[in-house]
Amino acid sequence: MSRTGGIVVTGAGGFIGSHLAEAALAAGLSTTLMLRYSSQGGIGNLVDLDPDTLSRADMVWGDITDGRSLARIIEGADAVVHLAALIGIPYSLAAPESYVATNVTGTLNVLEAARLAGVGRVVLVSTSEVYGDAETAAIDETHPLKPQSPYAATKVAAEALGRAWHQSFDLPVTIIRPFNTFGPRQSRRAVIPTIIAQALRGDGLRLGSLWPQRDFTYAADTAAALLTAATAGDIGLGPYNLGTGRSVSVADVVEIVGQILGRRLEVETDPERIRPASGEVDRLTADNRRFREATGWGPRLSLEEGIARTIDQLRRDDGRSDGHRRTDDYRV
Ligand SMILES: NC(=O)c1ccc[n+]([C@@H]2O[C@H](COP(=O)([O-])OP(=O)(O)OC[C@H]3O[C@@H](n4cnc5c(N)ncnc54)[C@H](O)[C@@H]3O)[C@@H](O)[C@H]2O)c1
Repeated sequence: MSRTGGIVVTGAGGFIGSHLAEAALAAGLSTTLMLRYSSQGGIGNLVDLDPDTLSRADMVWGDITDGRSLARIIEGADAVVHLAALIGIPYSLAAPESYVATNVTGTLNVLEAARLAGVGRVVLVSTSEVYGDAETAAIDETHPLKPQSPYAATKVAAEALGRAWHQSFDLPVTIIRPFNTFGPRQSRRAVIPTIIAQALRGDGLRLGSLWPQRDFTYAADTAAALLTAATAGDIGLGPYNLGTGRSVSVADVVEIVGQILGRRLEVETDPERIRPASGEVDRLTADNRRFREATGWGPRLSLEEGIARTIDQLRRDDGRSDGHRRTDDYRV
């Protein structure tokens, strides 16, 4: 199938992908949403989008490890935002080969398909995890790359491919390194939804390490930044940090959730949730000046407002028993 202009989003059924889909459709862009194929034909987090809005998108199922099918999906696009990836750090320790296949070979396939199709901009979504333990209070883009997990290593490799396709083939690639993103529809394995979900159940919280500090951007702000990178003209390769510039510890998040819910939350350490010390990064705070200056982007929602919205969504989800995040429609 061949596209006529517009934006292609890989990993569109994922957490950030669903917010980007919403933002692209709200901006009136011709939008192709690439979803990972499965025989269930699921649309992932896109089930939360307004059906009328979603009907304006072109949804296609495929796999980024299959270069030829990806090429057909990307053909004719103005811009591709490449989000599809395996993202769990603990699972990357258990199954690193699958991370190389998806995050490295998959990115190679996106770049090559975009090159052959003459796509106008490829936004590669990397991660702040490429920096490893911070050597400076706020991390700027010149900070050394020290991947501490197989996941981070595959993202460094994916970035290197993006840089090479930019240099060797003049492919307009932009590399974005988001720090942590949070918000509605995020997997409950991630730290903020875990805290909220346990707090809503009313028991004590069982968490891993409380001291790591992260810079959390609300998902709609992340989506706005990615859309800007894809559509705002040539901002070059980057790389660009994407974060708020403020970092808080896991303990701080517990405190904020407790304040919003109006009660004190007791925390017990769960050894199973503690990452191996060698794979844990103490503190990540974005120096976001390069991206702000290139695009004018800035976060619109505070951490506290974002957490309040995430609590609302998790409360709503807990009230449903309809297999909400699935669809049984037959596809392909
Ligand atoms: N969530 C964060 O805080 C965060 C922070 C930094 C970077 N990132 C990056 O942002 C991107 C999106 O992350 P997310 O949090 O939305 O993750 P997610 O797991 O919710 O979404 C990833 C999507 O990729 C799809 N996918 C995985 N393998 C695929 C394959 N072989 N073919 C096609 N699709 C495939 C999945 O089905 C899923 O929908 C990732 O590249 C991640 O590394 C996320």
